[in-house]
Amino acid sequence: MEKRPFLIDCDTGTDDAIAIMAALYSPQIDIQAITSVNGNVAEVYTSRNNLDLMEYLGKDIPVARGAVRALQGGGINAEGGAECHGEKGLGTIQLPTAQRAFDPRVADQVIYDTAVKCKGELELLVIGPMTNIAIALCNHLDLAGLIKRIWFMGGAALGGNVLPTAEFNIWADALAAHIVTQSGIPMTMVGLDVTLKAVMTEEDIALLRQAGTKAANLTADLLDFMVVRRDEGGEDLVMHDALALAAALCPECLVCKDCFIDVEFSHPYTMGYTFVDQGGRTGKAPNAAVALDIDVPMFRRWLVEAISRSALEK
Ligand code: BDR
Ligand code: CA
Repeated sequence: MEKRPFLIDCDTGTDDAIAIMAALYSPQIDIQAITSVNGNVAEVYTSRNNLDLMEYLGKDIPVARGAVRALQGGGINAEGGAECHGEKGLGTIQLPTAQRAFDPRVADQVIYDTAVKCKGELELLVIGPMTNIAIALCNHLDLAGLIKRIWFMGGAALGGNVLPTAEFNIWADALAAHIVTQSGIPMTMVGLDVTLKAVMTEEDIALLRQAGTKAANLTADLLDFMVVRRDEGGEDLVMHDALALAAALCPECLVCKDCFIDVEFSHPYTMGYTFVDQGGRTGKAPNAAVALDIDVPMFRRWLVEAISRSALEK
């Protein structure tokens, strides 16, 4: 089986880490590189988390540092995710500090080089603010034509989790999200409409503990952190980012509709609003498949199985 080449751009983050682990052990795809962006916590932590995670799991995948602030958006430098993801992004978990080095290139260069290398086959899993992708598109005119598809967690057809009208990843760099959504790259938007329903349970944690591998135990530890967070009144065990990967690898989990989408980036009250033209009222051609419904049990099963596949590694 020819593996689909993927690059993951992320602001790791508890749920980002789980999405990355699901990707690592999914046999249909080959992770070419991981690029880090400011978001849930400062980039200095998100990049460190990515590097530490790769070394901890024995994965020799290039990890690059990326944008440390937004082009234009909400308080990306406010490190507002600490409440949700812990001070450094991985809850209360401290991975051993990796000895290996970062890829010397900056994220947008890695994105471009990888796209060129993959000759039009590269797919991007974008699960943080879109700053790196927007910079890469601004620096390389031919990049849009080299990316097969973007699967992104962000936005909402209805509502928000930072502002009444904005989801965090999009709000955190609304201009970048505007640039990316208008790039012409085929894309699937997995927003709060579905991700807020993608909630894991204690039953899933038990299954992961049974699998007992490093990746499965780390996922269970991250979920345990979320259990405490939930019980203290915070966010539930919501798998925002892994659901964007599921859109790519287990599309049966989601019902999507082709729509025209854009992102508002100029007004403080609506900064990061994802305009989703479900009714086709603008007359503009759809530029994204937008996930609108989810089969939650199927998603949970898929995620536990994906990570448990780490047991097949020698
Ligand atoms: C998004 O923001 C972060 O908290 C999560 O990692 C996810 O990417 C949800 O709004
Ligand atoms: Ca994220």
